[in-house]
Amino acid sequence: MNILFYHPFFNSNDWIPLIQQQLPEAIVYPYCAGQNPPADYALIWKPNHEMLAHRHDLKAIFALGAGVDAILDQLQQTPDLLPKNVPLYRLEDAGMALQMQEYTIAIVMRYFRRLDEYYQQQIMQQWRFLPPHQYDQFIIGVMGLGVLGAQVAKRLASLGFKVKGWSYSLKSIAGIDCYHHDQLDIFLSGTKLLINLLPSTQETQGILNKQLFCKLADDSYLINIARGKHLVKADLLSAISSNKIKAATLDVFAQEPLPKDDSFWDNKAITITPHISALTKAEIAVPQIIEKIHRIERGEKVVEGLIDFNKGY
Ligand code: NAP
Ligand code: GLV
Repeated sequence: MNILFYHPFFNSNDWIPLIQQQLPEAIVYPYCAGQNPPADYALIWKPNHEMLAHRHDLKAIFALGAGVDAILDQLQQTPDLLPKNVPLYRLEDAGMALQMQEYTIAIVMRYFRRLDEYYQQQIMQQWRFLPPHQYDQFIIGVMGLGVLGAQVAKRLASLGFKVKGWSYSLKSIAGIDCYHHDQLDIFLSGTKLLINLLPSTQETQGILNKQLFCKLADDSYLINIARGKHLVKADLLSAISSNKIKAATLDVFAQEPLPKDDSFWDNKAITITPHISALTKAEIAVPQIIEKIHRIERGEKVVEGLIDFNKGY
C-alpha cells in the first residue's frame, strides 16, 4: 500500500513516522514535485493540481483538517483538482473538541465575570463594583451543532449556562435547546453570547452580519472560531460602535495571517488569536485515519467524516 503525504505547513517528520509505525505494511512518502509514484491513499492539505488530479486509482483522500472549505474553494477554481469519484474525508474531532471547549470556556468566563471591564477600571485605578451577570440571562447560542459545536454546547451547559444550538437539521441533545435551519430568528432571540462553529459554505459565508447582530440581545458577545469568511467585518465594527455588540473574540479571519494594518488589531473590544482555538494533533488524527483505511481495505462503507460535495461540508 502506498500513501502520499502533503501539508504546506506541517512538518512531515511529525506525521510520516507515526503513519509508518501504525501501518507497517504501507510505504509512506512525502509529495515531491515532478515525482508521481502510485498512491492508494493521500493525506493532504491544499493540494496542487499535479498532486492528485491524475490519480484515478486512489481509494480515498484524507484532508488534514476539520473544515475542508479551503480545498473546496480550490476545487471551484480548478474543477479537476481532485480525481472524480474518490471519496474525500475530513478529521472528526481528533482532539479539537476538547481544545474548542477549553477556548470557549476561557472566553465565556472572561465575559461572564466582566474581567475586561474590571481591567479597564484597573487602568484608571478605579475601585468600582459592577453588577454580576446572571446565568439565566447570559444565554449562549452555538451556531453549528456538528462534531465540535455539539461538544462545546454540552460543556458550557454543564457549567450552568442556558445553551441554545442551531444546525441545519434539528438535533436532540440533552440540556440544549435545539433549533433547525428555519428557526434562526428564535435561536438568536435573547442570545447574549454567540459562538460560531459552522462550516464555511456558500450558504453560511457572511452569516455574521448586521441583520443577524440586530436579533441578538443588547450588549452581546461574539466568539468566531469557525472561519473568517462567516463574518462581515464592517457590520461587526458598526455593531461594536453602536454597543449592540460589547466585545468579540476572533480566532479566524478572511485573510490569514491578519494583515498588520487591519483595523481589528487596534479595536479594544476585539480579542484576536491566530487560528489556534483547535489545532490538528497528529497523534490523534493518524489513528483516526488509519482506522478508516483499515475499514476501506476490508471493503466496508465508511461514511463518518465523508464530505458531501453538494452540501460543501
Ligand atoms: P461539522 O461536524 O460538519 O458540523 C457542522 C454543523 O453546522 C452541523 O451541525 C450542520 O448541520 C451545521 N450547518 C451547516 N450548514 C448550515 C446551515 N446552512 N445552517 C445551519 N446549520 C448548518 O463540523 P465540525 O467538525 O463541527 O467543524 C465546524 C467548523 O469549525 C469547521 O468547518 C471549521 O471551519 C471550524 N474549525 C475551526 C478550527 C479553528 O482552529 N478555528 C478548528 C477546527 C474546525 P447538520 O448537522 O444538520 O448538517
Ligand atoms: C482548522 O481550522 C480545521 O478546520 O481543522
